[in-house]
Amino acid sequence: MSHPLEQLREEALREIADAPDAQSLEALRVRCLGRNGSVSAWGEKMKTLSAAERPVIGKLLNEVRNAVTAAIEERADKFRAQKESDALADIDISLPGTQAERGSLHPLTQMLDRAIQIFRRMGFALADGPDIETEWHCFDALNTPPEHPARNEQDTFFLPDGRLLRTHTSTVQIRAMQGAPPPIRVIAPGAAYRRDEVDATHSAQFHQIEGLYVDENVSVADLKGALEFFFYELFGTDTAVRFRPHYFPFTEPSFEIDVRSKALKGGEQWIEVAGSGMVHPAVFEEVDLARGDDAYAPEKWTGFAFGLGMDRLAMILFDIPDIRLFAQNDLRFLGQFA
Ligand code: DAH
Repeated sequence: MSHPLEQLREEALREIADAPDAQSLEALRVRCLGRNGSVSAWGEKMKTLSAAERPVIGKLLNEVRNAVTAAIEERADKFRAQKESDALADIDISLPGTQAERGSLHPLTQMLDRAIQIFRRMGFALADGPDIETEWHCFDALNTPPEHPARNEQDTFFLPDGRLLRTHTSTVQIRAMQGAPPPIRVIAPGAAYRRDEVDATHSAQFHQIEGLYVDENVSVADLKGALEFFFYELFGTDTAVRFRPHYFPFTEPSFEIDVRSKALKGGEQWIEVAGSGMVHPAVFEEVDLARGDDAYAPEKWTGFAFGLGMDRLAMILFDIPDIRLFAQNDLRFLGQFA
């Protein structure tokens, strides 16, 4: 007759083979191999055996334990594999996937990036300033007299504390000069705000790129050269650029700049795109007063400045009929510039 240990092995192996699921297999493992399990109990019994029996039964016990352990592991592996393939079976690989929506840059951002690229090639560095400004940076320092209409509450958004939303990016000219002595060559892209009646060409928030170049012997020729190059790069070399005399408090002489190109919608029409001029000595003097030195002494330094209307340029470049489209976040509109 076979030894009880061998019977135990046979019985255990049969039960393992019959175990219907992972849970009952685990229960079975505890029952056989757990601390109080049937196989483990034989380890205790070994102590009661005679010295002659012990090695033989010890060897048998080892075989049984190994066989039962191996059988349980093998069966557990089967259950695990089954579970995985069951889970995969629930996935219908013929279903279409969830499409990731692909974004794109806003047309104004694209326009700004292009403009910045061009100016960077001419050696302009990026400068920055806050949208909420002091009246001094926005008007006084820019030689704009107290009675100037732009300072009116009808044209400018004032905050209760007397600060305001900058009405142009020319404020950054002042901040750049306060921050560093000449020579200076910077552009400042950013938003500006006015209490305009909103229509197809006017928005309460719009975007400009301000430019400032101060050095010795800077002349109107430099201004013309830099901005003509800019517009040729942007719109193509068959673009005509016109400098029309104008007035700004912070430049003298001052020009408005118009462009015309057959490549553009509107063809033969001159389109106003920028203000510009030679920095007014009074601006340098006001900056030096604030700095407390004579870094920008107008006898030594001259400079040109300009302010480009970026919404206008983007509307020309992308043939966009209404400035309000920029802020409406309509994906049917934005998707056309992907
Ligand atoms: N700040 C002016 C505006 O918003 C534009 C402008 C004109 C900027 C002449 C300049 C400049 O830098 O020199 O209408």
